[in-house]
Amino acid sequence: MTFFSRRSLLKGLVAVGSLAVLPMLPHSSSAAEKKILILYFSHTGHTTTIASMIHECVGGELVEIKTKIPYPTNYDVLTHQAKEEQRHKARPELASPLPDPQNYDIIFLGYPNWWNTMPMVLFTVLEQYDFKGKTLVPFCTHGGSILGTSVEDIKRTCPEANVLKGLFVYGTKVQDAKPTVDAWINELKILS
Ligand SMILES: Cc1cc2nc3c(=O)[nH]c(=O)nc-3n(C[C@H](O)[C@H](O)[C@H](O)COP(=O)(O)O)c2cc1C
Repeated sequence: MTFFSRRSLLKGLVAVGSLAVLPMLPHSSSAAEKKILILYFSHTGHTTTIASMIHECVGGELVEIKTKIPYPTNYDVLTHQAKEEQRHKARPELASPLPDPQNYDIIFLGYPNWWNTMPMVLFTVLEQYDFKGKTLVPFCTHGGSILGTSVEDIKRTCPEANVLKGLFVYGTKVQDAKPTVDAWINELKILS
């Protein structure tokens, strides 16, 4: 009697082969089991770059948040308007409806730091949609104030969401941020 039958030996080889392949699978393979939404707002494109890097890493649906009335391109006019919106706790209207967060497991939420927190349209999104019970993952681009008070503001606005560690990337450094984005996603351990 042989210790291993031909059949069990073959089975063993297949199993070992699978194990050897597993670590090489891209993130998107394990992410396929989780429904992922990447929601982001960007005015000059820095946050768009990071959103695309996250999408490349985890897959899912990539959706840009747009306001019904577009923001001005002139920097001084824009900064003044953004400050006024913050002062008045404005809730700028969305250009079009967004996917329902309840249909996803993990929602990445991206934005530029505007006056030390999120642009007010992000508050519109967080109040208008139901993030209860969802994993919310913030990411922002900035000009020096990193996340500002944005993560606390997200937690306060969505107290029943599970808000994870946020990523911040200096706006002018986004092109080099892919390794940072990948390391952050690995550290979050959300895909396994
Ligand atoms: C209205 C406005 C306010 C800003 N306020 C801040 C701020 O308080 N702190 C900061 O670090 N950067 C601030 N910035 C810089 C942006 O966060 C930075 O340029 C960001 O990368 C822009 O992202 P975007 O290209 O996706 O729009 C501000 C920019 C604008 C237009």
